[in-house]
Amino acid sequence: MSGWLLRGVRVLGQGDPVDLHLAGPEDGGTVVALGAGLEATGARVLDADGLVALPGLVDLHTHLREPGREDAETVETGTAAAALGGFTAVHAMANTDPVADTAGVVEQVWRLGQQAGHCDVHPVGAVTVGLAGERLAELGAMADSAARVRVFSDDGHCVSDAVLMRRALEYVKAFDGVVAQHAQEPRLTEGAQMNEGAVSARLGLTGWPAAAEEAVIARDCLLAAHVGSRLHVCHVSTAGSVEILRWAKSKGWQVTAEVTPHHLLLTDVLAATYDPVYKVNPPLRTAADVAALREGLADGTIDCVATDHAPHALEDKETEWGAALPGMVGLETALGVVAEAMVETGLLDWAGVADRLSTRPARIGRVGGQGRPLAAGEPANVVLVDPAARRTVDPAGLASRSRNTPYAGRSLPTRVVATFLRGRATALDGALA
Ligand code: DOR
Repeated sequence: MSGWLLRGVRVLGQGDPVDLHLAGPEDGGTVVALGAGLEATGARVLDADGLVALPGLVDLHTHLREPGREDAETVETGTAAAALGGFTAVHAMANTDPVADTAGVVEQVWRLGQQAGHCDVHPVGAVTVGLAGERLAELGAMADSAARVRVFSDDGHCVSDAVLMRRALEYVKAFDGVVAQHAQEPRLTEGAQMNEGAVSARLGLTGWPAAAEEAVIARDCLLAAHVGSRLHVCHVSTAGSVEILRWAKSKGWQVTAEVTPHHLLLTDVLAATYDPVYKVNPPLRTAADVAALREGLADGTIDCVATDHAPHALEDKETEWGAALPGMVGLETALGVVAEAMVETGLLDWAGVADRLSTRPARIGRVGGQGRPLAAGEPANVVLVDPAARRTVDPAGLASRSRNTPYAGRSLPTRVVATFLRGRATALDGALA
């Protein structure tokens, strides 16, 4: 039997070290056994002393830019970045060119993901045709396609029309789908450049008020409850949003939410540098918002971390603040940022990290075979993490085609030692396997 024998690993960072035997893809790609002193003839042995094993990470929010902006990212380069970051599945956002609003485009992205082979790619379908917010896209056809789309989002744009949002929520119930809303009231954010508050007032930049996010989240929670459907809120960024989600969950409504790594670590004070690498949508908020987001993630009000990996070509990012496109790359730094914001602060242990970066996002996206416990018979989707290591982020060393990381030169805790997709190594020692 081929595959891997990971010697002396701590599963979810808990208990005594054990050996973990993963069958290779030709032998089913499952976890064969966990235990002390395992023997596995023919398997490659990896000394995992001191390492933590987590289920492969699942990202609900990745921009792969293909088709249309292959100069910024491709499915090949974006999923390579994902594997190096510890991900075994990503959801590819629909704001491509052409927009992923038909069965044809989502199938194209899904096939490109299969060809690349670095991780599973689940295309997100657009809610409205061309992301224009006027007519519903072919949600059913995308759900029935080979890509089996379950997550629908106009991300980058808000489905601001309440009737369209209601119709989308009603429609996706037929196939147990979910509408992932980019919550941004458009009129309140016209021309917005950064968080509205003391820093924007000082810098003279047009502000993006917290209320523009919170008003849409509150409305959508009410709509989801009214029609009995599933709502997922993308990149929650304010303390008030956490409060509204806490209230909606207390009612038992089917509402889930994500927070990005950058909103867990960085604040709007960075806008004072006028370095567009810190320009992102929703914008970086205040230290009080960061604290509330961390607390919300720790207590489960926010279900998961999603990267909002948003690669941009140099000419779109290295320009003046006002003209630069919003977004940051994030797949290769997500785990390190979460370790700094949540693990080093004692807010989450490694089991909590596995829950928020694998189990829950897989469940929200209805992704089979991902986010599963590391137990015999389960798919061997695994990330091995060195919790004691640190690494300094070098933009030139990223596998992503784009360089717009806000962490250049910053030392982040942990290192991804290996990623396994159904028993096959996709990343090993910081390189593609
Ligand atoms: O900063 C962002 N960039 N936020 C979004 O919602 C879209 C994304 C992008 O596509 O670049």
